Amino acid sequence: MRGCLFFVLAVNVCLAVASQVGETLFPDPLPIQGPFFFVHDPSLVQREDGKYFLFTTHDKAGIITATHLNGPWTEVGSILPRNSTIQLPGRDDIWAPDVSFHNGEYYAYYAVSTFGSQNSGIGLAISQTMEPGSWVDHGLVFNSTTGDEFNAIDPNLSIDEHGNPVLSFGSFWDDIFQVSLSKDLRTVISSPVQASFNSTSPNPEEGAFIWKHDSFFYLFISSGLCCGFVADDLPPAGDEYKVFVGRSKSAHGPFLDKNGLDMRETGGTLVLGSHGNIYAPGGQVIFTDKKTKKDVFVYHYVPVDSPSPFNDSFSSLGLNGIDWNSGWPVLTAL
Ligand SMILES: *[C@@H]1O[C@H](CO)[C@@H](O)[C@H](O)[C@H]1NC(C)=O
Ligand SMILES: *[C@@H]1O[C@H](CO)[C@@H](O)[C@H](O)[C@H]1NC(C)=O
Ligand SMILES: *[C@@H]1O[C@H](CO)[C@@H](O)[C@H](O)[C@H]1NC(C)=O
Ligand SMILES: *[C@@H]1O[C@H](CO)[C@@H](O)[C@H](O)[C@H]1NC(C)=O
Ligand SMILES: *[C@@H]1O[C@H](CO)[C@@H](O)[C@H](O)[C@H]1NC(C)=O
Repeated sequence: MRGCLFFVLAVNVCLAVASQVGETLFPDPLPIQGPFFFVHDPSLVQREDGKYFLFTTHDKAGIITATHLNGPWTEVGSILPRNSTIQLPGRDDIWAPDVSFHNGEYYAYYAVSTFGSQNSGIGLAISQTMEPGSWVDHGLVFNSTTGDEFNAIDPNLSIDEHGNPVLSFGSFWDDIFQVSLSKDLRTVISSPVQASFNSTSPNPEEGAFIWKHDSFFYLFISSGLCCGFVADDLPPAGDEYKVFVGRSKSAHGPFLDKNGLDMRETGGTLVLGSHGNIYAPGGQVIFTDKKTKKDVFVYHYVPVDSPSPFNDSFSSLGLNGIDWNSGWPVLTAL
């Protein structure tokens, strides 16, 4: 609550958030050393040599690296310094890069769009090292246009129980969908199928991400408002970003929450919400650290006590551990 108390106008809001989601339920993220760096919708991949690569929305899909998780982190360049080849508005302002390792190469699915638009595309760039200058843009994989049921942004690639690639995506409109990809990971070979839906307007789910643990596939989503916060005019407590999860024996769902409620029927078990200095956490992913063999929960949050309180220009990196003992992800200190 330290940050909240410093910022007098926000005290009531902070207290309301705290009581709603349970202030003590969530551990603080790992303290990060070094100068501030912007992170939104992070993707974090550790290379074979141990080096960490963090990718972010904006900065033409910014690349930020470190040799230790607690920093310092250095902004080293971009995946697409010369913009995406996808001929859609937003091609110079890439969102939500999703990087994973397949067949000896790093695949970055990314989104081209503009705020509040369905005129969107998911593209693919490939690299052998993840370093700036090494990425080759392969352009459009999938798109949406005004009037479609879905919005083709926030991609996440996963491999299903039969070894087949599935791309999850979606943001607002009818929320989260999935398509099957060809074996070369470049072509969509099925129609979109709904994976999660929040029936409450404005149907605010996005940032889907699938992680396999033991015999379950876990679908994580960010729900609520990510951005554009104004300190003295915040949305009603609980309407800001937070992270929900559901699980299934199949990467294609149905994903059920802890109470057995289907995520297509507004189900979802809360994993992380606003607490203390952490406001609107989301854009979540998981990776397994090669050094510690531990799963790390990676997300962005808006620091309440940043130089400009609640301003998502100061969106920061959150890292926590995960306790899977109950069969559900419970965040821990890292
Ligand atoms: C990228 O897009 C921006 C904005 O449209 C433009 O000014 C810039 O010239 C583009 N860069 C390249 C290399 O095409
Ligand atoms: C997408 O999911 C895969 C695991 O299924 C993971 O390795 C990758 O980091 C994810 N990326 C993002 C940004 O969600
Ligand atoms: C997007 O997809 C539609 C068909 O669904 C197609 O007509 C349109 O040309 C595509 N846009 C781009 C930029 O590829
Ligand atoms: C659904 O949306 C409402 C309104 O933003 C929100 O209060 C609720 O937490 C959301 N639930 C899920 C599972 O996304
Ligand atoms: C957020 O911070 C940025 C960078 O300092 C600034 O340009 C912008 O005006 C701020 N927005 C608000 C709503 O205070």
